Amino acid sequence: MLETKIIDINPNNIDMDKLRIASEVLKAGGTVAFPTETVYGLGANALDSTALKRIFQAKGRPSDNPLIVHISEKDSVNALVRDIPQKATILMEKFWPGPLTMVFRKSKIIPIIITAGLDTVAIRMPSHPIAKTLIQMSGVPVAAPSANLSGKPSPTQANHVIKDLNGKVDVIISGGNCSVGLESTVLDVTEEIPVILRPGGITLEMLQEVLGDVSVDKGLEDIKETPRSPGMKYTHYSPKAEVVMVTGELEHIVNKVNNLKEEYEKEKKVGIMATEETKDIYYDALVLSMGSRKNPQSIAENIFAILREFDEKSVDIIIVEGIEVRDIGYAVMNRLLKAAGYNVVKAGR
Ligand code: TXA
Ligand code: MG
Repeated sequence: MLETKIIDINPNNIDMDKLRIASEVLKAGGTVAFPTETVYGLGANALDSTALKRIFQAKGRPSDNPLIVHISEKDSVNALVRDIPQKATILMEKFWPGPLTMVFRKSKIIPIIITAGLDTVAIRMPSHPIAKTLIQMSGVPVAAPSANLSGKPSPTQANHVIKDLNGKVDVIISGGNCSVGLESTVLDVTEEIPVILRPGGITLEMLQEVLGDVSVDKGLEDIKETPRSPGMKYTHYSPKAEVVMVTGELEHIVNKVNNLKEEYEKEKKVGIMATEETKDIYYDALVLSMGSRKNPQSIAENIFAILREFDEKSVDIIIVEGIEVRDIGYAVMNRLLKAAGYNVVKAGR
């Protein structure tokens, strides 16, 4: 057990003295959990292999899953990669800082533990004021996976991090809720046509608008293909409860969810992940609304917190409504399908 220091910092009015405590810990080879605009990250000095090992230990993360390196200035990429493709330069200008991670060919200074033996390195420049300032103050690139226990839903609130990592890391910065609510988009820019390895905050549509052609890793579409982003192959985002997704047209979804609920509740405690449009239709049920179908970003912000909340309520099975697979809805469905282990019921007449 470590003595974890929990530091409260207001992202809109950063107390530099408090943040300095955290940056000193990073410099000294310790682990610091901090908020980003996507999800909370668990950071360590990206150039210090001993510090990096502590991340894997704290999370219980498999060592073949590489880490994203976080920087606070665009120029910092230069030392970390072998070359910067022109398309990457365009994307950096357009989307950094922000929820876009790009995979480059790595330079020699990247420790092998970061890339899990791959020849590439994933890099991102977060826009969250605490993340940005912390990285800047520490003066080193910061490797940071999501700050959850491996396999659990990613943390979007400080209390999620405290629940998972208290006693396992040196510092947890409590700095409010994460605005995007889902992890960054991971885009491989080493190919002529960049490939989305993980959908996220910067959507396929946004990337296509800037680049024209963008492809999507086959492993995301077909569960029989091995994904090229090693992290995507693990059962992930999974609460303790079993998760079932229902897809189809909305009225059919609602009917199916009701039928399943009645069937399951004979033996199990059931939770329903509904939307603003449907939440009042389910009677006599434990229902949480993910947000409005008209505003899929509102859904992105809530899904991980709701998965955790149902665990707290000791629900045995969660029935989740599918949403439209476009814009950020693509990333939402990717995470929910993974949480459900691709256990999908197609609702029809
Ligand atoms: O939004 C985010 O990206 C958050 C915050 C903290 O920045 N971080 C995050 O890290 O989600 P993590 O470790 O939970 O997910 C990193 C993903 C994994 O799926 C990993 O396999 C992939 O990025 N990845 C890392 N390096 C890679 C590489 N060189 N090639 C392909 N995929 C890589
Ligand atoms: Mg993660």
